[in-house]
Amino acid sequence: MNGTRDPKADFLTIYKDIRRPGADKLLAWLASTDFFTAPAGAKHHGAHAGGLVVHSLNVWSRLREITLRDTIDGKAILDLTPETNETVAILGLLHDVCKAGVYHAETKRRRNPETGVWEDYLGYMFRDPLPLGHGEKSLYQITRFMRLEDHEALAIRWHMGAYDAAAHTDLRDLSAAMDATPWVWRLHEADMCAAHIDERGTDE
Ligand SMILES: [Fe+2]
Ligand SMILES: [Fe+2]
Repeated sequence: MNGTRDPKADFLTIYKDIRRPGADKLLAWLASTDFFTAPAGAKHHGAHAGGLVVHSLNVWSRLREITLRDTIDGKAILDLTPETNETVAILGLLHDVCKAGVYHAETKRRRNPETGVWEDYLGYMFRDPLPLGHGEKSLYQITRFMRLEDHEALAIRWHMGAYDAAAHTDLRDLSAAMDATPWVWRLHEADMCAAHIDERGTDE
């Protein structure tokens, strides 16, 4: 979803696909944080104000394509059911809510690569006041307001795939999660496509 004109408006439109109890309270909490202005990271992809919402939309769009791909029956592409659309919206829009309130804008110094002159620029420092772990924290924050299905919880918990710190020492839990539901791989694939293809070169 590149070239989107109003990412927050797009986010709120797609959020309407989430109809289960608590979705309104979850959205009110998000609006009380810096979620809609936060970057997607301190460096690399999406390191700019609003980058997190753009990233969430990109993951939603990729996840929808991937889910449709997996729903092809012979030559006929089947429409996604409202339940599946709801899952796609939850996973895409909410997998990275853990990034609200962790990137702090700070003035940094750098040497301009063209002029060689030192200059100030606005950068981000990562400081997490609730260091639960990446997928774990999103899971905790979402389920404070709204129930998740097991396959949704697994997908959000493990969306970092083999980049998750827990996978560095033991891949068995990640493999078991991938075996339990295809949504774990789908969300990881969508996240990777968004970060490394859709948001390529979007740092500032
Ligand atoms: Fe993430
Ligand atoms: Fe992500």
